[in-house]
Amino acid sequence: MADARAALRRDTAGDHERLDALFGRFRLDDPVDYRAFLTAHAMALPSVEAALDAAGFAALLDDWPARRRGSAIAADLAALGDAMPPPLAAPPLDTPAAQWGAAYVVEGSRLGGALLARGVAETSPTYYLGTPQPPGAWRNFLARLDEQLRSPDEIAAATEAARGTFTLFEQAGRIVKGADVRP
Ligand code: HEM
Repeated sequence: MADARAALRRDTAGDHERLDALFGRFRLDDPVDYRAFLTAHAMALPSVEAALDAAGFAALLDDWPARRRGSAIAADLAALGDAMPPPLAAPPLDTPAAQWGAAYVVEGSRLGGALLARGVAETSPTYYLGTPQPPGAWRNFLARLDEQLRSPDEIAAATEAARGTFTLFEQAGRIVKGADVRP
């Protein structure tokens, strides 16, 4: 039986490690760095969400609209007096497999978010990092993903889109943090 999640996890582990190192350099208890962290995510996440919306991903995952968090980032930035930055271009999501791969990355990013929220200054808004996922949301997501991605070709297409999505966050982090940031 295909195990898409295991393949995605294995084949994007290096991408995740790089992102963890990159975003680990933002000091979330420092309001200036926290704002920069939110700005980087705001350049990447809403763009992937909009591409998934445009591709009709809600037909594949019915609670997709409720999972989106672009408006939570916008609310954090608005509370800090900032507008949303211009979005970076999302990777092509023209097949259901590619859509699952991108969704895997944005849904998975919530797992570390709860951890990160604990490091944010008490006076800063945390709509984005602090909003908990409903119980079982990640497990249900993975069950659907494993059901939908059956063939090696589908899993390969999902992995490519997942890596493209990780790259988008990495690009955003580097743009915001400046050229001094290395992997
Ligand atoms: C400093 C930044 C980050 C930290 C500390 C972090 C931490 C974590 C942790 C602890 C987990 C595992 C949670 C668990 O198994 O219960 C996780 C999973 C994951 N994270 Fe991150 N993360 C960070 C950034 C990101 C970003 C920016 C993305 C994507 C845009 C991302 C995507 C994922 C994905 C897809 C998974 C699921 C892997 C799986 O299949 O188990 N992470 N992260």
